[in-house]
Amino acid sequence: MPKPIFVLSGPNLNLLGTREPDIYGYDTLSDIHDRCAARAEAFGLTVDCRQSNHEGQLIDWVQEAREAASALIINPAGYGHTSVALLDALKTLAIPVVECHLSNPAAREAFRKTTYVSLAATGIVSGFGAASYELAIEAAAGLVGAARS
Ligand code: DQA
Repeated sequence: MPKPIFVLSGPNLNLLGTREPDIYGYDTLSDIHDRCAARAEAFGLTVDCRQSNHEGQLIDWVQEAREAASALIINPAGYGHTSVALLDALKTLAIPVVECHLSNPAAREAFRKTTYVSLAATGIVSGFGAASYELAIEAAAGLVGAARS
C-alpha cells in the first residue's frame, strides 16, 4: 500500500461552511475531506487530512510528511502569504507538493498576490472552491504515478 497523501489545511479553514461563504462556499472541511478520500480511493490511494490554526503544528506535519507521505497537498491559508518558516519546511520535502486554494488569491487583495509557499510547490490549484482539493488529489495521484482504477 502506498503511503498516504497528506492533505493539510491552515488557519480558519476549520470554519468552512460558515466563513465568508460568498468566497469559500458552503462545504465544510469535513465534506471536503470526505471528497478527497473518495477521489484518492479511485486511484488506489489514501489520504491523511489534517487542519490546524497553528503555524508550528503545520510545520511539524510537513516534517512528518518527509517520511510518512507519498505527496503533500497544502492549503496554507493566510500563512501562505506570511510564513517563511512554512516555506523552509516545505523545501525539505523530496515528495510532490501541491498548493491548493479554494479562491484565486491572485485575483483578490494585493497582499494575497505573494504566496511564499508557491516557491516550494510542484504545482498550484486555486479558484475552484471545494473542487480545488479534488483536483489537487488528481494532480498528486498523477505525480506519484497512480493510475485510476
Ligand atoms: C485561501 C486563500 C488565502 O488568501 C486566505 O488567507 C485563506 C484561504 C483559499 O483557500 O482560498 O484563508 O487559502
